[in-house]
Formats: sequence, structure tokens, C-alpha cells
Amino acid sequence: MCDAHRDKTVPLSDIPESVDRVTSFGADGGCRIDEFFIDRAIDFAWMAAGKTQPNPLVGALVVKDGRILGEGYHQKYGEDHAESIALERAGESARGGTLYVTLEPCAHTGNTPPCVDEVISNGVGRVVIPTLDPDERVNGRGVRMLRERGIQVDIGVRSDRALLLNMAYFKSKLGLGPAVTLKIAMTLDGKIASRRGQRDDITGTEARRMAHRLRAVHEGVLIGIETFVTDSPQLDCRLLDSVDPPVPVVIDGSLKFPGRHPWLDRRQMVILTSKDAPEEREAALVRAGARVVRCGTSESAIDIAEAVAELEKRGVSSVLVEGGRKVFSSFVEAGVWDGMFLFVSPVLFGPDGVGLADRAVGKENLGARFAGASVVSGDVVVSLISEKTRSAILDRLS
Ligand SMILES: NC(=O)c1ccc[n+]([C@@H]2O[C@H](COP(=O)([O-])OP(=O)(O)OC[C@H]3O[C@@H](n4cnc5c(N)ncnc54)[C@H](OP(=O)(O)O)[C@@H]3O)[C@@H](O)[C@H]2O)c1
Ligand SMILES: [Zn+2]
Repeated sequence: MCDAHRDKTVPLSDIPESVDRVTSFGADGGCRIDEFFIDRAIDFAWMAAGKTQPNPLVGALVVKDGRILGEGYHQKYGEDHAESIALERAGESARGGTLYVTLEPCAHTGNTPPCVDEVISNGVGRVVIPTLDPDERVNGRGVRMLRERGIQVDIGVRSDRALLLNMAYFKSKLGLGPAVTLKIAMTLDGKIASRRGQRDDITGTEARRMAHRLRAVHEGVLIGIETFVTDSPQLDCRLLDSVDPPVPVVIDGSLKFPGRHPWLDRRQMVILTSKDAPEEREAALVRAGARVVRCGTSESAIDIAEAVAELEKRGVSSVLVEGGRKVFSSFVEAGVWDGMFLFVSPVLFGPDGVGLADRAVGKENLGARFAGASVVSGDVVVSLISEKTRSAILDRLS
């Protein structure tokens, strides 16, 4: 590697160790070599959660003869793109190698020069990507430019995991509305609490760090009032370095939320309530700093689609839903979700435990497709994508 390259190289110590404790598998066809490397690039990309907006999370690897020669991820908005870091690290040896990158390489000049130029000038022979980039300045142009220079480009490897990595980015660029992700921690027997009204730490720290990464890529984090009362969660990103926490959102049909709480004056919280909630409670909460939004109801449950639309009007256009059971079931039943992350811990809560869902939803109505699984220290994170969302995005990208 020449000195110029070495100067721009990201030291290995800058790459958080935790990626080495994550082993991921996609659900779309075993663990072949391309899938293996794209999975690793996706795991790298997640490391920068909360630091790249409005840019997407991107990871990249340069591989030759089965050996990783360089890897990197887009670490922060305005800084080097993942492909560029991986190529710099690989240096001269990238010639004839394969570049694995989690999104189509960019074809336009932004804060950094177009990555396609760098890919071409480094002599890479093949590029593997899960999907095209929905940004209209790129969408297909990057791939065309590479192919025109004789570089083989393979598209579609681990596309479901890659869509989940940047769901809000894909949906907003394609005009598909707000992004909704469901996240829940559960036991091997599908329980989310050991008994009613009980707060439990189900998964270990590494899995919780991943959950904080999910928070970091959403503008809002939503829970039901019962979870607020039982768990008193902080809904922040304290296991990550210098990442702003999302806006807390609570579904609270009769405005039981307390008049004093740090979220009220410090976190611009939103309370979603019903049209007949007491006016004096609303006035008190608004005075304390909450944004109170009245939504339509059916059988005293707040209309989920309306709630998400109201959040978008208030600048919360991506939301991570963290339960509890009633809230989770309402989103699933309404079909208002794009991705789902189930954090599974090897423990059984038995018959007293609270189950994940409070009603049955058939396979057809659920419309969920397994995207992948990651082994994170002692826990497993299973990810699913909504069939409806997946087709809407892929139809528009091609
Ligand atoms: N393992 C995990 O990841 C996890 C995560 C979160 C919670 N939990 C556990 O789950 C339990 C709490 O769950 P929960 O089911 O009792 O309560 P919840 O889902 O947190 O809150 C449900 C409440 O929200 C209000 N609500 C209004 N509209 C709603 C709608 N459309 N859909 C759903 N709720 C609506 C209702 O109260 P009003 O009638 O007053 O409006 C309802 O009783 C706790 O034990 C907690 O520890 C586990
Ligand atoms: Zn780029």
C-alpha cells in the first residue's frame, strides 16, 4: 500500500469489536460465499447506526481468493464512503478482486467523489450488491457505469437484510411513507415478561446494544402506556457513543402519563391519545412540554394507521415500536409495519409468562418473511420483513 493510501486508512482499532461477536445468516438460501461476505458487510454497516443520517448505513469488503483484503463502513455523515475505505485498505491488491457492498456504489459527487470512479480505477473485477440505491442521482446509474467498464455486477444477494438496514431511507426516497419497525425481546417459549406487570431484562448487553442501534436509526420510539408503567424504560441509546436518542412516543388512550417526567421537557415527547381523553389532563401535559395528539379509536384502541400518519406530520417519519404485547399485536393486526426484530434469549418463562401476541393472526394476514438471523453473544436476533413493503420497494427499484 502506498503512503497516500496508508494515511487515509481507518485503523483497525476504530472498528468496534462487537462485529466479531455477531454472526449473521440470511434466510434467502444457505450460507454461500457471496451471502457470507454481504452478511459481514451488513453487520459492519450497523456499527454506524445513528451517525450517518441523512445518508444510509453502508458496509463494504474487498475479497480476493477467499481472503478479505480490506473492509470498512460509512462511519459518519460527510466522511468517506464504505467502498472507498475498503478499497483504500486493500490498496493495489484490490485489482481483480470482488467488492461486496451493501448498497449500489454512488455515481454522483456529494461530500465525496463518486465511488464508481474509485471502483473502476482500482481494477476491481466484480461487484456484489443486495439492491440498487433509491436515490434518484444513483438508482441504476452506478451499476450501468460499472458494467460499461466491463465490471461484472451481481444484484440481489441478501436484499431483505439490506432493506431492513436502511428501511427509512428506502421508504422516504421512494415516497412510500413512514417506516415502522417492531422490536421485542422474548424467551424460547415466546414470552415477553415473566408475569403480568413484571419488568424483566430478557437479553444480554450485546443484544441490547443492537436494540439501541435500532433506536438510533429511527426518529421515534413507541411504547404502550402499560409498558411505560411497568418497565419505566429510558428509551435512549446509552450503550452507543454520541448518538442522539429518538423522540419517545407513548400510546395512552386516557392520558395516564404523569405530569412530571424527563421526557416532557427534554425529549419533545409525543402522547397519542383518544378523542375523548380528559381535556384538563391534555392541558397539563402540554404545559409540561408534551405534544398530545388525539386520534380516532375503535373499541377504545387508537387507530394505528392514523397514529403513524400523525407522527409523520410532526416530523417523526420513522418509528421503532417496542411493545408491549397489546401494542405489538395492534400494529401487526393493522398491517402497519415494515420490519420486525425478535430478540430471543435462551430461557423459558413457563405458563405464568406473558405471550408475545394477544390474538391470532394467520400467515397470509401477517405477510411476514424471514430476512435473517444474527447470533449476538448468547442471544439470537431474528429479523423479518413485510412482504407488502418488500414488493413495494423492489418494484420501484428495478
Ligand atoms: N420483552 C419485551 O421486549 C417487552 C417490551 C415491552 C413491554 N413488555 C412487557 O409487556 C407488558 C405490557 O404489555 P401490555 O400488553 O400489558 O401493554 P402495552 O401494550 O404496553 O400498552 C397497552 C395499552 O396501551 C393503550 N392503547 C391505546 N390504544 C392502543 C392500541 N391501538 N393498541 C394497543 N394499546 C393501545 C391501552 O391503554 P388505554 O386503554 O389506557 O389507552 C392499552 O391497555 C409488560 O409486562 C412489559 O414488561 C415486554
Ligand atoms: Zn459512494
